[in-house]
Amino acid sequence: PTPHAGADGSDRLVVVAHRGASGYAPENTLAAIDRAAAMGFGWVENDVQRTKDGRLVVIHDATLDRTTDVKKLFPHRAPWRVKDFTAKEIARLDAGSWYDHRYAGVRVPTLKQYMERLSHNHQSLILEIKNPELYPGIERQTLALLDKEGWLDSGHLRNRLIVQSFSAASVRTVHDLRPAISTAYLGTPPVSELQAYSRFADQINGEYTKLSLGYVSAVHALKGPHDKPMRVFAWTVNKADEARRVDDFGVDGVITNVPDVVRRAVTAN
Ligand code: G3P
Ligand code: CA
Repeated sequence: PTPHAGADGSDRLVVVAHRGASGYAPENTLAAIDRAAAMGFGWVENDVQRTKDGRLVVIHDATLDRTTDVKKLFPHRAPWRVKDFTAKEIARLDAGSWYDHRYAGVRVPTLKQYMERLSHNHQSLILEIKNPELYPGIERQTLALLDKEGWLDSGHLRNRLIVQSFSAASVRTVHDLRPAISTAYLGTPPVSELQAYSRFADQINGEYTKLSLGYVSAVHALKGPHDKPMRVFAWTVNKADEARRVDDFGVDGVITNVPDVVRRAVTAN
């Protein structure tokens, strides 16, 4: 079945598969987004960084050792930073075996491969620009790739793509480069500072323990750069009671490793 997007108001709450359905498949791989699609989830989140030779790849950590077999293949290249390896070297790594032997041979995807698979699956993306301070110009480069892959047309911009970062400067850069893109700031700035964020961020994506009814209401009271009420997504919510708690605060979305658990919890809420 085609996963539905859920950002068009058809869903009360957008459930986003964090790093793909990372509770069930190795994070940030094509297997993880396929798994989310098979479970019926139209929204996924990922993390984008850059190789030594300037290619964009999808991986969470700044180093390769936790989620690949890089130590085995390149034992003398500590600390195994993504930015110190070429795309060709990274393409040789196994990004699945650490998670489960059934995923042996799964690769670290390039952002291009990842976007192609999302298009094929009819899925939508919260793209995180990860560690932008390590990769000068990564915002412009990412947008150029998205444009080339057809992800900056009006249909995609309306309800298929959100760009987020822990770096406010990075979110502002994305907004300034392409004001039509929906953006999110990853963090929970004090209420007194929210107005400043509302100039370049359509939403606040906050760590779930930092959220409250009052905070979510304060964000909702502001309008973002597209003149719509700012939204709040909570991360990373992996338990039913936590999902019900943030749902009661009125969040607009939940980012989770186990989207089925969250969907079931909020449907019954
Ligand atoms: O999307 C929210 C979440 O991904 C932020 O934390 O460390 O998982 O990238 P992290
Ligand atoms: Ca992330």
